[in-house]
Amino acid sequence: MYGSDVHVACIMDGNGRWARKRGLPRTAGHTAGEENLAAVVRIAVRSGVDHLTVFGFSTENWVRPRQEVRHILGLHKKLFGRIAELNELGVRVRWIGRPFDDPTARTPRYVQRAIIKAIRDTANNSGMTLTVAFDYGSRAEIAHAAETLRRAGTMIDAESLGSAMYMPDLPPVDVLVRTSGETRVSNFLLWQSAGAPISFSTSAWPDFSEDDLKDAIALARTIPH
Ligand code: FPP
Repeated sequence: MYGSDVHVACIMDGNGRWARKRGLPRTAGHTAGEENLAAVVRIAVRSGVDHLTVFGFSTENWVRPRQEVRHILGLHKKLFGRIAELNELGVRVRWIGRPFDDPTARTPRYVQRAIIKAIRDTANNSGMTLTVAFDYGSRAEIAHAAETLRRAGTMIDAESLGSAMYMPDLPPVDVLVRTSGETRVSNFLLWQSAGAPISFSTSAWPDFSEDDLKDAIALARTIPH
């Protein structure tokens, strides 16, 4: 159980490149990415990871071609529908993103329903927590937190902002994973990752492996808590 007490957050990059390399459409890369996520969840559970948080769809991803967006949305429905599998693994599902009733939120109803059902049907599991970020962006989250505090007349400081995030009980990230050789910082869990090391993997997300996860966990271990 080399991963116990660890919160791993993944920016799952490189599905498009993975597909292009094989002469396949980008959508095939996303399909392979969703399947590998299911595999990584199993590996993470076996490794004793406490929290796995993944960037499924960002507030910026809506500008992608309509057909690609529709495909990725369908894959989220599939992922949130893996309830029997997740229950067998003892995984509790959660979701982070723009609240459905926020005027700027864009999660369609059928994805909302899949999210709500997965959360409800896995709520009693006490193993790993899988948090999926969908329609999520850190800047939107931090702005939303500040606006919530302003409206309530609460003083804005680091402590009050932290408690007004979408999911205040999400523990700090212990290691942020970025796949596919990308070295950019994304608009992902910026508040929660302050101080987290970044594990850069050259694997495209569909190829992200147990060894890649082990490397990330080993990096998390080098940072004193
Ligand atoms: C980046 O690949 C990945 C995404 C846009 C979102 C992540 C989506 C998946 C892993 C597939 C489905 C996952 C879930 C959670 C259901 P990219 O398209 O940016 O790849 P590229 O940089 O090579 O073009």
